[in-house]
Amino acid sequence: MMKALEGVRVIDLTQAYSGPFCTMHLADHGAEVIKIERPGMGDQTRDWGPTKNDCSAYYAFLNRNKKSLELDLGSQEGKDILFKLVKDADVVCENFKVGTMDKLGVGYEELKKVNPKIIYASISGFGLTGPLSKLPAYDIVAQAMSGLMSITGFEESGPTKVGPSIGDNYSGAYLTIGILMALYHREKTGEGQRLDVAMMDTLYSVLENAIVKYTVGGFVPGQEGNADPSITPFDSFQAKDGLIVLGVGTNGLWAKLCKAMGREDLINNPLYENNIKRGDNYLPGLKNEIEAFTKTKTKAELEELMVGSGIPFGQILNVGEVSEHPQTKAREMLVEVDHPVIGKMRIQGVPIKLHNTPGSVDMPAPLLGQHNEEILAKLGYSKESISELKDKGVI
Ligand SMILES: CC(C)(COP(=O)(O)OP(=O)(O)OC[C@H]1O[C@@H](n2cnc3c(N)ncnc32)[C@H](O)[C@@H]1OP(=O)(O)O)[C@@H](O)C(=O)NCCC(=O)NCCS
Repeated sequence: MMKALEGVRVIDLTQAYSGPFCTMHLADHGAEVIKIERPGMGDQTRDWGPTKNDCSAYYAFLNRNKKSLELDLGSQEGKDILFKLVKDADVVCENFKVGTMDKLGVGYEELKKVNPKIIYASISGFGLTGPLSKLPAYDIVAQAMSGLMSITGFEESGPTKVGPSIGDNYSGAYLTIGILMALYHREKTGEGQRLDVAMMDTLYSVLENAIVKYTVGGFVPGQEGNADPSITPFDSFQAKDGLIVLGVGTNGLWAKLCKAMGREDLINNPLYENNIKRGDNYLPGLKNEIEAFTKTKTKAELEELMVGSGIPFGQILNVGEVSEHPQTKAREMLVEVDHPVIGKMRIQGVPIKLHNTPGSVDMPAPLLGQHNEEILAKLGYSKESISELKDKGVI
């Protein structure tokens, strides 16, 4: 079946998580993604756990549907091969430190000479401009520097990182969006361009109403645990046998919750009559009122009651439970691939569901240099010249 990005060619110089997360989405939707890796060592995630048969499952879930070409960009022959690839490509992606691509002699200005229509898409910790631009970063640095850690967790836990590396996820997703915007612009005008996503900007941009609390409300927000900064009640609550969550964002849902708890008296209580009042009077009053009820029921009893009443409700599932959940199965969010070294493995499915041109996981992640011969042969290199490049360590 045809995929949305068929015909788009991406030269993928990304590494670690943020950049590869972007090119994973492009590859899932049919772009040809050629991943350039350092000869003999490859992407740093090839060393990241968990591993099976000495092979990284981390690399394997993230780089499905891509091809791997080893290329020493420190050598002139390596650069020449990159230039040949870029000539026929639509997009170049990279997430080195700012300046590394220029130092290698393969930065935007060089690649634009080879292909003026190229879309050159970068992720960095802090962006191409500003006093921090040249500094290296991983997700935890971006979570710390963006303000995210200061508003996550509970007061007693101290500043807390969000579990997975969402600074990488969001910047990878923004890069994907930016690439699609740039492709659309190029479609209309023929013009390529540079695209610059910073992990710090990215996480700052998703701090939701924390920013207007500061700029409009005039105070610096802190940690609010599991409660939502703008909707009340929207939190985890104690049941007889563990925690559950409820999200009650409107007065209509509030009335439903009060009825479900047998507390119609609370519906028109002036302390709780609208969202703002419920927020102002949440701790300890309203939370105690709700928990006085939820503590008398098991999680399963609450699920039946709340779901039956149309109230947004969730059990707090662990990774095993969500992976085996019928909803995850129905949405095909866990798919099986047959990896040549790891064997059959289950990995995340495709979350962007295009109904006429669905994305899919068709190929396992490549072994290091698995597509060296295929890609170089297409560029016109003979068997002999390919083995010469191998001997010289260019590939
Ligand atoms: C991830 C990061 C911290 C790693 O830092 P680093 O290893 O010090 O620096 P770089 O990734 O820029 O460069 C790695 C080196 O490999 C070299 N290299 C990488 N690919 C190469 C190739 N194919 N051929 C030859 N050399 C290569 C680079 O030239 C550089 O060499 P140098 O150390 O002599 O300058 C950094 O790349 C970074 O901040 N990236 C932007 C933010 C980001 O995406 N972070 C990761 C989120 S998961």
